[in-house]
Amino acid sequence: MNGRLLDWSGHIVRLARNLGELGIAASMSDAALALVARRLIAANRATEALLYIQVTRGTAKRDHAFAAAMRPTLVMTVRPFDFSQRIAQQAMGVSVVTTDDTRWGRCDIKTTGLLANVLAKQGARRTGAFEAWLIGADGSVAEGASTNAWIVTGDGTVVTPPLSPRVLPGVMRAAVITAARERQIAIEERNFTVAEAQAAAEALITSTTVPVLPVVEINGVAVRGGSPGPIAARLAAAIWERIADQTGFRL
Ligand SMILES: Cc1ncc(COP(=O)(O)O)c(C=O)c1O
Repeated sequence: MNGRLLDWSGHIVRLARNLGELGIAASMSDAALALVARRLIAANRATEALLYIQVTRGTAKRDHAFAAAMRPTLVMTVRPFDFSQRIAQQAMGVSVVTTDDTRWGRCDIKTTGLLANVLAKQGARRTGAFEAWLIGADGSVAEGASTNAWIVTGDGTVVTPPLSPRVLPGVMRAAVITAARERQIAIEERNFTVAEAQAAAEALITSTTVPVLPVVEINGVAVRGGSPGPIAARLAAAIWERIADQTGFRL
């Protein structure tokens, strides 16, 4: 944003953890990675843009076991992204539909193996919904295909599923928890069902590219009569403020 990096350390700490979990060596230091990122942003004259880093184990003869001494491949891209589109969506809210969570057992690791997420998202888009919420065997909402899931209870408590192997530790999730605590908004990390979400005071989704988006319909059932609520508005304002503080970016 504004040519500057948002929440860089949160993303880099998560990348390092993911690489560690997968046994992939870091190809460069965090400082070198930040330098390359800044150069790429400058070379592309990118102001409002998404920076994407993808690391693979490298190339080797086909085998399931890792080859010895593989050199990881790191790809970094930057592309323009219009964050102002989110303002209209925040005012209107979006709909979600639910689907079984058919992903692997380590969804806390952000990997490129996203087939189940892709099919869930496409299934949602086919029905005109913005996002798919993935439902575990116990009937609770894990998260969205590419977002974390939240509800607000009748007493104004903001609820999101706890971190577990079913949930990606979203950098925006952490930012929203911090912002809520700073504003004395109660936060609870616990599971909730689709029925509880449909009857909730508010529902929302978050991610780096979707900084607080109200959910106004779940499986065709209106949440809060179909209009975004005040807690989502407060959290959205807090996140835009955080973005402005870190990058100087203002819509
Ligand atoms: C499955 C999943 N959950 C949650 C998120 C949100 O993560 P973040 O807030 O770090 O963008 C993403 C983002 O890509 C995701 O793919």
